[in-house]
Amino acid sequence: MERRDFLRMAAATAALVAAPRTSRAATARVDVLINEPMGPITADFYGHFVEHLGGVVYDGVWVGENSKIPNTNGIRQALIDAMRKLPKGAIRWPGGCFADSYDWRDGTGPRDARPRRTNFWAGNMRNQPPSPSKYDPNHFGSVDFARFCRLVGSEPYFAANLRSLPARDFYQWVEYCNSPAGTTALADLRGRDGEKDPLKVRYWGVGNESWGCGGDFTAEEYAVEFRRFTSWVPGFDTRLSYIASGPSSGELEWTRGFFSKLTEKGAGMLSRVYGLALHHYTENLSFGDPSKSGWDVRKGSAIEFSPTEWYEILKEADRMDALINTHWTVMGEFDRQHRVKLIVDEWGTWYKAGTEIHPNHLLGQQNTMRDALVAGLTLDTFHRHADKVAMANIAQLVNCLQSPFLADGDKFVTTPTYHVFDLYGAHVGGQAVRTLFSAPTIGYERPNGKGSLWGLNGSASVKDKTVTLTVTNPHVTEPQEVEIAVRGAASGPVKGAQISAPDIHAHNTFAQPGVVGIKDATVAAVQNGVLVHRFPPASVTRLQFALT
Ligand code: AHR
Repeated sequence: MERRDFLRMAAATAALVAAPRTSRAATARVDVLINEPMGPITADFYGHFVEHLGGVVYDGVWVGENSKIPNTNGIRQALIDAMRKLPKGAIRWPGGCFADSYDWRDGTGPRDARPRRTNFWAGNMRNQPPSPSKYDPNHFGSVDFARFCRLVGSEPYFAANLRSLPARDFYQWVEYCNSPAGTTALADLRGRDGEKDPLKVRYWGVGNESWGCGGDFTAEEYAVEFRRFTSWVPGFDTRLSYIASGPSSGELEWTRGFFSKLTEKGAGMLSRVYGLALHHYTENLSFGDPSKSGWDVRKGSAIEFSPTEWYEILKEADRMDALINTHWTVMGEFDRQHRVKLIVDEWGTWYKAGTEIHPNHLLGQQNTMRDALVAGLTLDTFHRHADKVAMANIAQLVNCLQSPFLADGDKFVTTPTYHVFDLYGAHVGGQAVRTLFSAPTIGYERPNGKGSLWGLNGSASVKDKTVTLTVTNPHVTEPQEVEIAVRGAASGPVKGAQISAPDIHAHNTFAQPGVVGIKDATVAAVQNGVLVHRFPPASVTRLQFALT
């Protein structure tokens, strides 16, 4: 957008809210409309994903009870401690594609007697020597995962195998997890595995990416399987919430085909679905060139990128907004009351190999300020759609794709993405409220023309007497001076915190763990109901307004 367009838009917004202007230098404006609630922001917006893939489980989460690495019940202590500082969102396990090759029984019984199995991902690790990532020893099973969730205060979300096990194994897994102590043979088995009392697993994914690695089903075929898998499952004291395998990014036909076939048996079938899983990875750097559109070809480096690649990745991440809207619209064709919500249970950046911190960490990658911006703008997107999204799970927790943590042996570090989750946690428990952003659009060069991205975006929520506003400024070099008005209440003092760095490639390493983190931001006083704040380039900021 040119400056004149910005001025026209700013004038329109100003007319809408009739707020006084206080800064001559301001180039943008934010209006938080606290009387326009949009939906609750729960901890589940901040969920995670743990798959038996590369270094996620073996090395990342599970070090083993006899390890010299500090642990509780075999689970890495540093991870537990860091997770406890984050929102307690549900954690999805054991996959991903792995889920549809996993037999939960393999992860039961005496640990040393458990079968070693070829991991789903072993074929991608042909050149690596044998390791638990390739040949899974099953030392980490359902009970261990549930304990991990309990240790960090999160709900477990299990993904069931629909491709290679019958429905019977699914409901028996539920029985193993949830049947009361002493009532069934499977409850006894769970007791011998260390957990006498039910694990109370509420969230159950019925397959994963059933259009691909989860069985190559059509949407219609999958809907039939979903109905069959969910038509009888023993009920215990935990109400089950089934999550249906959903589309990849913009595949609206999957969503339409699934709901159309599901509801052939009547609209009552909708009550079987708690949420539809949507997966969207930020990875496409083909710039629209068909010769570079292949899955492996179109990816860029996690740490070496140009400003153009910075903007393009942010723009790819920003597709989440339209994806939520379009799938929601299709869901509404069948579910007029919108009882079924979206579960974005795989999201994040996916770069080419080369920055993994250990050769066994398949799909491992470093995490820079660019990932911090992706995390910020994506979490803001979920908040703005708090009426549609019930859960989201970043992929993946540790050593894989956009991880908040990296770990190798006794080494452990938090990434810029972790700090965004920490910064944004203040929204949890609040009510998302409509917030208007107007700022000059950023134009950038692409190999084949021009690209553009909004100049400022974010979200706001109200909790008790505090408004939390989070904002990303994606400009690689320019700060943004912004007038901010909280409409509908008088605002007292404002506190600020931000994540920024002089270099957009900045990242944390084991040797230098504190390069990117949260810093206090200097905030001026509110004057005539307006705060003027300068957002640094390439930054993620949280402002908290105390309401008087
Ligand atoms: O997160 C990595 C993989 O990406 C998951 O296993 C799969 O569901 C998706 O394609």
